[in-house]
Amino acid sequence: MTNKYDDLRQWLEQVEAIGELAHPQGADWNLEIGGVSEIDYKKRGPALLFDGIKGCAPGYRVLTSSTNSARRLGITLRLGADHTDATLVSALRGAPSRWEEASKRFAPVYVESGPVFENVMEGDGVDLMKFPTPFWHEMDGGRYIGTGCAVATVDPEEEWVNLGAYRSMLMDKNHVTLSIVQGKHGHIHNQKWMEREGRAPVVIHCGMDPLFFMLGGVEVPTGVSELAYAGAVRGEPVKVVKSTITGLPIIADAEIVIEGWIKKGDRADEGPFGEWPGYYVSGKSKEPYLKVERVLHRNNPIMLGSPPAKPPHDYSYMRTIMKSAMIFDALVSAGIPEVKGVYAPECGGGRMLVIVAIKQRYAGHARQAGFIASQCREAAYMGKYTIVVDEDIDVTNLEEVIWAVCTRTDPVTSIDFIRRAWASKAEPMLRKGEPPFNSRAVIDACRPYEWFSEFPKVAQGDPDYLRELEKKWGALFGSGGA
Ligand SMILES: Cc1cc2nc3c(=O)[nH]c(=O)nc-3n(C[C@H](O)[C@H](O)[C@H](O)COP(=O)(O)O)c2cc1C
Repeated sequence: MTNKYDDLRQWLEQVEAIGELAHPQGADWNLEIGGVSEIDYKKRGPALLFDGIKGCAPGYRVLTSSTNSARRLGITLRLGADHTDATLVSALRGAPSRWEEASKRFAPVYVESGPVFENVMEGDGVDLMKFPTPFWHEMDGGRYIGTGCAVATVDPEEEWVNLGAYRSMLMDKNHVTLSIVQGKHGHIHNQKWMEREGRAPVVIHCGMDPLFFMLGGVEVPTGVSELAYAGAVRGEPVKVVKSTITGLPIIADAEIVIEGWIKKGDRADEGPFGEWPGYYVSGKSKEPYLKVERVLHRNNPIMLGSPPAKPPHDYSYMRTIMKSAMIFDALVSAGIPEVKGVYAPECGGGRMLVIVAIKQRYAGHARQAGFIASQCREAAYMGKYTIVVDEDIDVTNLEEVIWAVCTRTDPVTSIDFIRRAWASKAEPMLRKGEPPFNSRAVIDACRPYEWFSEFPKVAQGDPDYLRELEKKWGALFGSGGA
């Protein structure tokens, strides 16, 4: 199998070939697709390509669980399918920095047209109700067409194009809301447009190579376009078409694209929505919306769904693997020596808990690593606990990490706090109406630097000796041996 593929359809062929694609037929968009997907991702099952969806034309499909296994994520990142969680984490070490650097050579190329133009609905002809948009969770306020999406916006001053995964709810056949949290690139772009023109251009890709929703859904650095970054991951530039409606680039082989402008002051009821911390946190609020001017779609289009919920959820595995690699690289770029491991587990949605392992080299090293891991762009939004441990701790093993916290900290001296940090209405501990700050704890669970060598020795057998014993006594543990 090659590491190369271009669009979602070729991605599906690759996933089918490794036996990780199922084809559920006849599900209802109303809760059933969401429920079946929830069962599937809790079991780390196959990707699901729903077809024959009730009330929709056959061939109009929804894909979920796209990036929920090491093998599918490996395919998506062009790292091959032959991966376990551990090999994927090590294959990604240093990759985000390399992709960022290489993105300078992979600007997207503009082409005249592409498969996404096979069907065009414009003006009064726009009808978003044709698509099998799921009603994902029981208490949602509407049907979310944008979950595993990639929303293109542009900085009107610096002219760089961002892709972000920002949720989008159907209002009717030609209006959708768009919820972007303050401080996200798409929000800053749109703020600047509002200040200059009183309106902001938006292109929402609702089905495409899952690479775009992954990169859109993690904190690629400011000023770096995810389109170029995706080109670097793929090893060739992404083909885009310049929109005649907004001037923004459209991914030429996307499945479904929604185009329009958000006007200043246009706001509509949005939410509630089952959110990634695991609650319907933000309830109903007024959010910007766009009147859709044009919709493009391929024949038999495939919507990419990626609903959040109590973790693990549809994209928590992807976020954990990607964030762990990105925060690792951010620490290295910030000059932190001897970073041995970083892990942002799924229980914290890949955000609220970050564990960093270092080999301590100097007094203050652990706090420095902890504060940067808490506040670098890759981790700053909605973080909560950052735990720094010594290199003998496996960052992916929560039992071991919490053992280090229990035995190598003195709560009064080992925990520092940061107040008024970057959060949003997705923070479950915010009461309605409170400003979107949260606080952070940096837990230094390393053996104290100044008496490291005196610290009690760990009570466990010498690993080489234990390995020898396991060989000799393996029959006791079902692992062969004498
Ligand atoms: C499936 C999915 C849905 C998301 N929904 C939202 C959302 O509704 N609003 C938001 O601000 N961020 C959302 N995020 C998180 C952002 O995509 C993420 O923070 C990303 O880094 C934003 O892009 P930016 O860093 O270029 O602003 C979502 C992420 C994923 C993967």
